[in-house]
Amino acid sequence: MKKVEDYVRTIPDFPKKGIMFRDITSVLQDADGLHLAIDEMQKLCGDPDEYDVVVGLESRGFLFGMPIAYNQHKPFVLVRKKGKLPCETIEQTYDLEYGQATIEIHKDAIKPGQRVVIVDDLIATGGTVAAAIKLIERLGGKVDRCVFLMELAGLNGRKNLEGYDVESVIRYA
Ligand code: PRP
Ligand code: ADE
Repeated sequence: MKKVEDYVRTIPDFPKKGIMFRDITSVLQDADGLHLAIDEMQKLCGDPDEYDVVVGLESRGFLFGMPIAYNQHKPFVLVRKKGKLPCETIEQTYDLEYGQATIEIHKDAIKPGQRVVIVDDLIATGGTVAAAIKLIERLGGKVDRCVFLMELAGLNGRKNLEGYDVESVIRYA
């Protein structure tokens, strides 16, 4: 029986020299890989009675967050790169493993007191998810848990997430 990590393909020096790029297209383009990835991540989200909303981080987080929200009959909220959301937003700028970015969320996407699970494909430096947490908390949401398919443990993204429950299916050293 193959494990989900068997479906991930690693491309050295993409998009820049020194980066080991963990590619999820090879997971998604295999029906068994796709099922395994969603099932494993959904389990890590925990008891669906304990969260109200799934938030996915653009763009690869959408691929994993949406099916989980659908399966668990939860709303799905998009955190997008700046300039993509059409209604009133709040924004947050952060550093990436390579580069810098600004993300946004619609002001009406999270109601005060809602319990949120954040879903993304990968945690590297943790900058993206830390920025997403700030957005959600500024709207009065409570981040219950952050769930990733992959964690690049060497980059210690968890240091940005002290006090939060962080779960990943695959951990790379
Ligand atoms: C990647 C990845 C995570 C983030 C992780 O997204 O999907 O969202 O980087 O990096 P960090 O932990 O160092 O913040 P990217 O911004 O490349 O966008 P994409 O999913 O649209 O490719
Ligand atoms: N996003 C940030 N770092 C990454 C990596 N090493 N592989 C895939 N996506 C990433």
